[in-house]
Formats: sequence, C-alpha cells, structure tokens
Amino acid sequence: MMPRMNGIDTNGIDTTAYRLTQFAHGGGCACKIPAGELEQMLSGLPAVTSPDLLVGLEHGDDAAVVRVRDGLAVVSTADFFTPVVDDAYDWGRIAAANAFSDVYAMGGRPVVAINLVGWPRDVLPMELLREVLRGGADIGLAAGTPIAGGHSIDDPEPKYGLAVTGVVDPERILRNDAARPGLPISLTKPLGVGMLNNRHKATGESFPQAVASMVALNDTAARDALAAGVEAATDVTGFGLLGHLFKMVRASGVSAVLDAAAVPYLDGAREALRDGFVSGGTRRNLEWVRAEIDSKLDEDELLLLADAQTSGGLLVVGEVPGAPIVGEIVPRRHRALNVR
Ligand code: CO
Ligand code: CO
Repeated sequence: MMPRMNGIDTNGIDTTAYRLTQFAHGGGCACKIPAGELEQMLSGLPAVTSPDLLVGLEHGDDAAVVRVRDGLAVVSTADFFTPVVDDAYDWGRIAAANAFSDVYAMGGRPVVAINLVGWPRDVLPMELLREVLRGGADIGLAAGTPIAGGHSIDDPEPKYGLAVTGVVDPERILRNDAARPGLPISLTKPLGVGMLNNRHKATGESFPQAVASMVALNDTAARDALAAGVEAATDVTGFGLLGHLFKMVRASGVSAVLDAAAVPYLDGAREALRDGFVSGGTRRNLEWVRAEIDSKLDEDELLLLADAQTSGGLLVVGEVPGAPIVGEIVPRRHRALNVR
C-alpha cells in the first residue's frame, strides 16, 4: 500500500494535480447508455436460454444467475465507468463498491472479482492508476472478497470497474420481478449523488457526504433484507430511483405509489439542482418514464427522484431495519408509478 502525504506519493508524483473528471466525456452520471436505447438494441438479439439460467436478460435484472448444482447458483456481473470524482483513490473505491452492489442486489455473496481498466497511459501517470486500484482493493477487503487480476487496455478515456462473481442460494434470490402488491418499498441510501457529482465535475467543489455514500457497501442492506424474508430488490444506479422502480414494477406486473416526501436526500442535493447541476442522464431517465408517471409534483421534484445514481442503495420491496419506507407496491394500474 502506498503511503501518501498531501497527495504526494512515494514516487514523487503529485496525485492531486489531476482532476480526473475532466478526462471523462459524461456529465458525472456514470455514462450509462440510456435505458430505452439499450432495450431497443437488445430486442433484436437471439435469446440464449438454459434451464439453469435462473435470471437472464429478460427483465433487466442486476446480474445473471445460473444454477451450478442443487442449492448453489453463481451470480455474475460487470460494471465500469469513467471518473465520477477527481480523486483517484475515491474513484477506485466508488467503482468497486458499485460493481459489488449488483451481487448484493441479487441476494448474493461476492466470492471473487477482477479489475477492468481503460487508461490513457500517454496522458495520465501510472501512479495515478495505482491509486485507483488501491481504492478498489480496499473495497475488496471491506467486502471480504479477493480482487485477483483483471484486464487493462490503453484507452483515451480512463475507465475503471470490476467483473464480480458471487454465490447465492437459488431459493433466496432477490429478483426484480417478484414485487407483490401490499408490500412497502424501502430505500437504503439517500439520493442526490448524481447532482453532487455533476457539480463537483463542473466546479471542483468536493462533497464528502456523496463519496461516503458511494463507497458504502450494500452488504448489510442485502443481509437485512434477506433476514426479513424479502424476495424483490434491486440497486438504484444510473437509471435513478424512478427508472429502477419502473423496471421493477414492469417486470413484476404491478404498480407503485411513491411518497416523494419520504425519500431522503444528501445534504446539498437540492441546492445543486437549484443551481442547475443536472446531468443529461438524469433528464433522460425522467423522459424515459414520464408517460408512466401519474403525479402532480413539479418538475424539480421529479428530477430529484430521477437523479442518476452511482453506487446507490438498495430499493427493497419489504422492510429493512433503519431504512425509510418511501412507498408501496399496489396492483397494476393504468400508470406504473403514482408519485405523490
Ligand atoms: Co443494478
Ligand atoms: Co450494474
């Protein structure tokens, strides 16, 4: 591990001299391909099925799950993106926590991960990449999961993430097509990191509350959800709370009532919105679900609910100790989402 003093590592490179977000084309929204575009493109592909594929592409769940023997299934997922914060170590931690999250969102336990790296080696020092990987490694330690190897390419734009393999009991998978009417909806992290990351990229201001939220693992939330007998969950990432909730109710054939006043936000998120720091991804999220929303709330409130998250919390159908209840699953209505 590299000892650091004021951002100067032992090789004499000032790792704080680079604003990593300035090397990313996206608006601090983790640069996901818009949901509608992705679904349209995927719809033309042949369906690859197997009786052992317990969760595949069909409902856009967080990860693939395949049964390898009775009582044991493997969870497989990969996630990587361009810098969402300037600090290399923090970016590494955020990208790793985000990648692990899709295993937790399926009710799984990660067992091994590998690094996925794109690096502009002519432009950014390798010492900075080491800081990114050190961040990832620290999250691997926190998750109790080895990060063993990986793959790296020379790339004009820096990218980092993980491919994560986990295990899950096939009878205890947290699915996004298992939301049942009458159950409450819980959210395990506040929203707003998209607005704060957007502001950080534009102004260089730092938001430690956003970093702290993004590096927090969803391991405890998943464990608590499983212990509470929950069957449906997903994590809130690039498509925002509205987008991920829509995907879940659509896959489950139900609707949801969302209580906007109960949704928690990070300090500074509302101010960031007021000052105009809204990513294109967040606006696209809202456009994607707009026809499915029944609401009298103003545009700002809906934008907050659509804010593209990076390494967000779990959206759980059921109760999780300590997590606010933000709505309820109801039988299928004309519109998928009633936001009040
Ligand atoms: Co996910
Ligand atoms: Co993902």
